[in-house]
Amino acid sequence: MGLRKFAVLVVSIMIMVIGAASHAEDEADAAEAVNKAPASAQICGSCHGADGNSMVPMFPKIAGQHPEYLEKQLKNIKANVRMSPVMMGIVATLSDEDMAAVSQYFSQQAPKVGAAAGNAAGSVGEKIYQGGIPGSGVPACASCHGTNGQGLAPGFPRLAGQHATYTDTQVKAFRDGQRKNDAAKMMRMVSAKMTDDDIAAVAAYIQGLK
Ligand code: HEC
Ligand code: HEC
Repeated sequence: MGLRKFAVLVVSIMIMVIGAASHAEDEADAAEAVNKAPASAQICGSCHGADGNSMVPMFPKIAGQHPEYLEKQLKNIKANVRMSPVMMGIVATLSDEDMAAVSQYFSQQAPKVGAAAGNAAGSVGEKIYQGGIPGSGVPACASCHGTNGQGLAPGFPRLAGQHATYTDTQVKAFRDGQRKNDAAKMMRMVSAKMTDDDIAAVAAYIQGLK
């Protein structure tokens, strides 16, 4: 190989290496943007987990939830359309931009799923979730929340892997009229004919969905 050709080769290898390095840097920047919590999200971690995967059964997991749904809940709580004494004081300090930013952040975190709290495959919980309760006119949860509980943005939240305790509380709150922020009363109608046992069974099943 002549000296000239060798120099060209060295230069082109250098260009390739530099190109690859800056590409890797771009990727690192993108990953950082996804994982960097906005300042307003710091306080959320104490209850919902720093990455939105709450470890406490009464605090909902919000990782991987659709951003539109998260933002709607924050706005509803701030406007007292959804009652949450715990969240109320926290959202009062958030601007619209903060609510959008924290919703984006938590929606981009990978959800960690749990195991079914009883009621796995073949159970009453599965029957209700996938097929509803035909005798009482309760529709299948899957028809709106998806077969695997992945939901459908923007209006239908992801349920997969959610703590059974939290799901149980929310479905009862819809049924008993304490939570009224569901468009077209969808959840209030779905839950109206459900017994406490039905709700507990389906909530246990949902915790194991992935
Ligand atoms: C002191 C504990 C606590 C802190 C801190 C907290 N939350 Fe919550 N959050 C809750 C509880 C409890 C609920 C469930 C509603 C209820 O029972 O009041 C909830 C509900 C929510 C919901 C609705 C979830 C759903 O699936 O419908 C969202 C969204 C949310 N919180 C976001 C946040 C964000 C964002 C922050 C930080 C700015 C935050 N929370 C800080 C306790 C907390
Ligand atoms: C007709 C459509 C529809 C059906 C069927 C349905 N849901 Fe829902 N569900 C919704 C909508 C819409 C919301 C969002 C309400 C809101 O905007 O706050 C919701 C919200 C929820 C929530 C609150 C999630 C959270 O993070 O707080 C739970 C829990 C839930 N549904 C459970 C169920 C279960 C269990 C079933 C089956 C027994 C079911 N849903 C069937 C439409 C439906």
